[in-house]
Amino acid sequence: MLASFNKDVQLRVAEALKGQGTLSYLLKHKRIFSVDYEILKGIERYADRVFYEPIILFYLREERVEGEKAVRRYLMPLAIQLHREPHTVNHIFISPKLSSSELLHHEAGRVWLFARMHAICADANYHETVAHLGLTHLALEPIIIAFRRQLTASHPLMQLVGPHMHETLTINSLGRETLLKADSSYFDQVLGVGRNGALQLIARVYRNHYRMENETFPQRMARNGFTQVENPGEDNAEDPLPGYLYRDYGFMLWNAIHSYVESYLSAHYDSDEAVRQDKMLQDLLDDMRDPHRADIPGVPHVDSLQKLVDMASYIVFTATAEHSAVNFGQTDFYSFIPNRPLLLRRPMPRDLSRVTVKYIMEALPDEVQSQMTILMASTLSLMDHEGTLFDWAIASSRTRPEDRHLMQFKHQLEHISNHTLKRNTELGIYWPYLDPKQRMAYSTNI
Ligand SMILES: [Fe+2]
Repeated sequence: MLASFNKDVQLRVAEALKGQGTLSYLLKHKRIFSVDYEILKGIERYADRVFYEPIILFYLREERVEGEKAVRRYLMPLAIQLHREPHTVNHIFISPKLSSSELLHHEAGRVWLFARMHAICADANYHETVAHLGLTHLALEPIIIAFRRQLTASHPLMQLVGPHMHETLTINSLGRETLLKADSSYFDQVLGVGRNGALQLIARVYRNHYRMENETFPQRMARNGFTQVENPGEDNAEDPLPGYLYRDYGFMLWNAIHSYVESYLSAHYDSDEAVRQDKMLQDLLDDMRDPHRADIPGVPHVDSLQKLVDMASYIVFTATAEHSAVNFGQTDFYSFIPNRPLLLRRPMPRDLSRVTVKYIMEALPDEVQSQMTILMASTLSLMDHEGTLFDWAIASSRTRPEDRHLMQFKHQLEHISNHTLKRNTELGIYWPYLDPKQRMAYSTNI
């Protein structure tokens, strides 16, 4: 993995980690993690905005706390390489917490802070365009249209998935008229990539990387090197990355949704043959694949009940848990602009002594851009408090009291919610983003 970093970075990381173990030891024991934003390469920037295609290294630090038996482990940023092909040493930054002042005299806190801002700016642009708009709202749209075109309202698959498609086309239409409007796009005001860059990036990911058959939560996590951890938590020595809450609660929710979908569909299809013989379902799949109709990349060949369950679970999970995870934290993360700037107006200078507080302030969004960012984040984070996934399960189970699949699903959601609350209390944090009772809408509707 470190092969993508140049030799200089490797030497400097090894130097910074001296005393914690050799670099090869830490890599072998999976204590080095990386995030690579190569996907941003060549994407249009709006006006004078600057962002890079960084590679960020993280380090799983281990600390013995006096008086405690367990070793405390936590993830910390270790190094940032802003340029893809760095020309000078100034384009690589090491956390000042790890760097030795003799060797790395210029990595003062301010420079590190500005390097982090640029790294986060890249992540924030990816988040708003791809993780949020592209892979939830827009990826769901052709699926919903094909469902409405091919399935009757009484078809079991529509009965199952239909509620989780509520108002998605409406909010997408509104998004096209505001965020992506050709002559006065909100994205041009608040994002480094602007409207055109956003569309380029979404299209690049959707056409070159997205394949519906490979997008279930466990598949995506596996691509990033993660699997489900039994009894995840800070005290579990088997947990390769303690505190990775999106992974932990994502798997719990995926499992709950998958077993609900499986029990429901098993009651309607008694064999794989029944799936293959369902003309309406096969017409739906043809529509989703057809380049002149929905034209979705990588539509699965649904020739068994299991494949139908996986496909339906992917749609329900994306419309509920995944969209909520990337949507409802926007106020919390974007309202204080320096925490997560969506645009920066100054580059990292070659002469690092130029990185003063004034320089950083000039780089940050101006007053109007900041106000518009906060307005966008707070509007998109609005939650209909009657509309959580758990509320939906309660309301639906009132009208379908005989539906044992739904009852079981409701109980599982309650268990997950209680689990998140307990873990939040233990960790002393506020993390409601995958709690089906708090911040999880039952459809992608904002
Ligand atoms: Fe959204």
